[in-house]
Amino acid sequence: MSRSQHDLARGQFGPQAGAYVTSEVHAAGADLERLSRLAAALRPARALDLGAGGGHVAYALAPHAGEVVACDLSPEMIAAVAAEAGRRALTNISGTVAPAERLPFADAHFDCVASRFSAHHWSDLSRGLGEARRVLRRGGTAVFIDVVAPSAAAWDTHLQAVELLRDPSHARDYRTAEWTALLERAGFRIEAIQAWRLRMDFASWTRRIGTPPDAVAAIRSLQTGAAETTKAYFAIEADGSFELDVAGFQATAV
Ligand SMILES: C[S@@+](CC[C@H](N)C(=O)[O-])C[C@H]1O[C@@H](n2cnc3c(N)ncnc32)[C@H](O)[C@@H]1O
Repeated sequence: MSRSQHDLARGQFGPQAGAYVTSEVHAAGADLERLSRLAAALRPARALDLGAGGGHVAYALAPHAGEVVACDLSPEMIAAVAAEAGRRALTNISGTVAPAERLPFADAHFDCVASRFSAHHWSDLSRGLGEARRVLRRGGTAVFIDVVAPSAAAWDTHLQAVELLRDPSHARDYRTAEWTALLERAGFRIEAIQAWRLRMDFASWTRRIGTPPDAVAAIRSLQTGAAETTKAYFAIEADGSFELDVAGFQATAV
């Protein structure tokens, strides 16, 4: 059976849709509060949450937007977002099942596009950013938030290895320099970059995506066998919990 990157992501995320609605790491964060404040300032008529997962970006944007489209390639995720939006009485959120690399929206349809913790799964980040730019009107605002890789090669490789073992649909955590180059090439002007760290609790990090026991053991083996500098960089704890670098890129469509 031949499986595409999109099939892998659908297979990984579909069965776990509920876990992404309730996940503490996803449901809260200063980045969501910043997004909400940005939306309050911009008051977009139409906003897009790209790779919506459990819909937390859509819920942050909805009170300040005319309408919000939550887009994800997993139908189960979009169904979970519809149910949760109903529970929250956010009636201006609709869902679309589509890959970021091929969006079913007209050029310049949105005033605001935001994407959080999804781009590292995309089969083609350049193409996804090109689509985000195409559907955003000139002068519109985009925010991309994702895990970023450190610039030291050994730490970058460690991060990608544990991510791939945890979740076979992992494509790449890009470095900040890769993000900025790709954003500019896609037609964005970067306005601000914010960087912070996120602690991943090992048990919930692996449980959330259904990592099988042999892959959990392989991650633990990579962690315990890592160089001291790698262990220190990721602040790896005795139970495998560790810290990731995250960055938020705010950009304008030029
Ligand atoms: C970690 S979850 C997203 C979390 C969510 N954005 C939040 O802020 O809580 C990653 C999501 O990206 C989606 N995804 C993966 N590859 C995608 C692609 N190429 N296009 C659209 N969505 C994709 C997955 O289905 C999954 O729902």
